[in-house]
Amino acid sequence: MSESTSPIERVLVTGGAGFIGSHTCDRLLGLGKTVLAVDDLSTGHRENLAGALESPDCTLVEADAADPAAMERVFDDFEPDAVVHLAALVSVPQGEAEPGRNFRLNVAATQVVADAARRGICRRIVFASSAAVYGNSEALPLREDGATDPISQYGAAKLMSEKLLRAYAISYGLAATCFRFFNVYGPRQDPRSPYSGVVSIFADRYRAGQPVTVNGDGGQSRDFIYVGDLARAVAAAATDPAQRGGVYNLCTGRATTLLDLIDILAAEYPEVPAPSFGPERAGDIRHSLGDPAAAREVLAVTNDTPFADGIRALLASL
Ligand SMILES: NC(=O)c1ccc[n+]([C@@H]2O[C@H](COP(=O)([O-])OP(=O)(O)OC[C@H]3O[C@@H](n4cnc5c(N)ncnc54)[C@H](O)[C@@H]3O)[C@@H](O)[C@H]2O)c1
Repeated sequence: MSESTSPIERVLVTGGAGFIGSHTCDRLLGLGKTVLAVDDLSTGHRENLAGALESPDCTLVEADAADPAAMERVFDDFEPDAVVHLAALVSVPQGEAEPGRNFRLNVAATQVVADAARRGICRRIVFASSAAVYGNSEALPLREDGATDPISQYGAAKLMSEKLLRAYAISYGLAATCFRFFNVYGPRQDPRSPYSGVVSIFADRYRAGQPVTVNGDGGQSRDFIYVGDLARAVAAAATDPAQRGGVYNLCTGRATTLLDLIDILAAEYPEVPAPSFGPERAGDIRHSLGDPAAAREVLAVTNDTPFADGIRALLASL
């Protein structure tokens, strides 16, 4: 892996107009970096970068991260020191419906971006992997050295990308950091998408005064991480020359149930009728929880925005 310790000033962010991407761009600008967001605006929105684009240090280019010629051009023009690769087909159900598209966007695009990096001066890549690589593992909390056994096209593709990047690190000296994101929530997560996370959908409904329907008894739990905390970790891995790469969970280690979420929302909107409870959704796992220790140790960042504070920040942004 790269032994270079030269400063990292220019960072390219694929998927930069998305939910996580736009927060990452904000954070990088806050660190004084020059940022190029690359996005095809398929699920992202230019408005997500409204604040960032007011800075002369941020530019948005519309391009397909899976297109080798387009990526070579972008890398040649911008000459990034580091790339954060977030562009993806983010929906698990869509990955099942369109496995070819999933492969192109969640595997081939990773190779395209890594290759564009290694051809130029860029020696550092941060990749958005997912807790989906663990599949239905019940060995909670999930640790990076535990078994991976994805059960979806999406999860399999994320794991393949991790392996590809590991090989790029060994073969070409790229410092490659793969972050397994758990359930990310916060401002700019699109509640209108049918594949949006439960937090943004429930928050949106409570704010509109409408009751929610819970699939199952609400006792299912997730490890919800606030997007601002996540973006801090991603930006640190991209810009700290001491970071040498590796595979890390980005999570909190806290199990939060849907009933916990509902309690917080109900306290904010006491006029909204109580939720109703429907049948469990087929294939849903009951509990998911990650071990955050490895990332905390190596990155020296905390990711502990209390859930209620994160939810209030989300509500304030709607
Ligand atoms: N949100 C979560 O809880 C979560 C959990 C695990 C992993 N992830 C991963 O984090 C990354 C960001 O996800 P997000 O939640 O911000 O979703 P998002 O849809 O808001 O962001 C993805 C961005 O990538 C862009 N994009 C898609 N295909 C592209 C292409 N071919 N070329 C250029 N741009 C393209 C989209 O327009 C969008 O702006 C993804 O890789 C996703 O798989 C997210």
